[in-house]
Amino acid sequence: MSDEFVARSLEELRFWSRIMKEHSLFLRLGFRCEDTQLINEANGFYAVFEKIENQANAFTIGTDPNVIKRFNQEVHTAVSHIWAFKRKILGLILTCQLPGANNFPLLVDHVSREANYFRNRLEELNQGRLEPLPDAIIDENVFFLRIMADHAKFISHLLDPSERKLVDQANHFSDEFDQLLFQARDLDSMRPQSQTKPLLGQFLDQNRVSVKALRDFKKTAKDLIEACRIKSIIHPLLADHVFREAQHFLEIIDSFEASLAGKSGLPATP
Ligand SMILES: [Fe+2]
Ligand SMILES: [Fe+2]
Repeated sequence: MSDEFVARSLEELRFWSRIMKEHSLFLRLGFRCEDTQLINEANGFYAVFEKIENQANAFTIGTDPNVIKRFNQEVHTAVSHIWAFKRKILGLILTCQLPGANNFPLLVDHVSREANYFRNRLEELNQGRLEPLPDAIIDENVFFLRIMADHAKFISHLLDPSERKLVDQANHFSDEFDQLLFQARDLDSMRPQSQTKPLLGQFLDQNRVSVKALRDFKKTAKDLIEACRIKSIIHPLLADHVFREAQHFLEIIDSFEASLAGKSGLPATP
């Protein structure tokens, strides 16, 4: 347990606790007025993750690693609870028990996958378990490429249908990321992954180009939504949220490239 452990834990905690807090808000906004119990549960999660976010921001790099380890465990429990809540909502939607609610099943599944990812990261950090670089690169890309493909689909479906050009662009990104995801899965099956190492530089380059383009598209959409210059049912905070997730993926790609080039002392996972 070291300063590196503290620094990386704080990075993950700060990024993902805000994301979990915002998921609680998006879920709440999608419920119907009569779903008071679910609305209360979502508000409860908002408060829990807001507190965690504030605590994570208050810690400094010099904090005792054992304190952070215990905090990671606490947050892990909270994330397990919000994951179960999201899966419960998904079940209710899929069995048509929330008719007229305004969240797509894929969106609810998506936010539960993000919770599961955060939970795994906390486990890996606390166990000091780091995958070998090629495995980490492929696994992270498989996870995030699907997340990006989903975002493009959500944007396409939440824009007003009359915004034809933007809908077209979003659909184009959806196809592009579906393709990249298939490529990543192909690479994933070519085990042992150590043999895939010579291919990873090109793989990351290709993904980076597409993620940058998607991030810029999200930025434009976010600016237009905030300025009330396009028609959509996208909450401005959702536009900002998916923009930040793309930016986070880009930073992960950059840290992998630096590790591949041997330019960084960073451990294998981002
Ligand atoms: Fe998210
Ligand atoms: Fe997302």
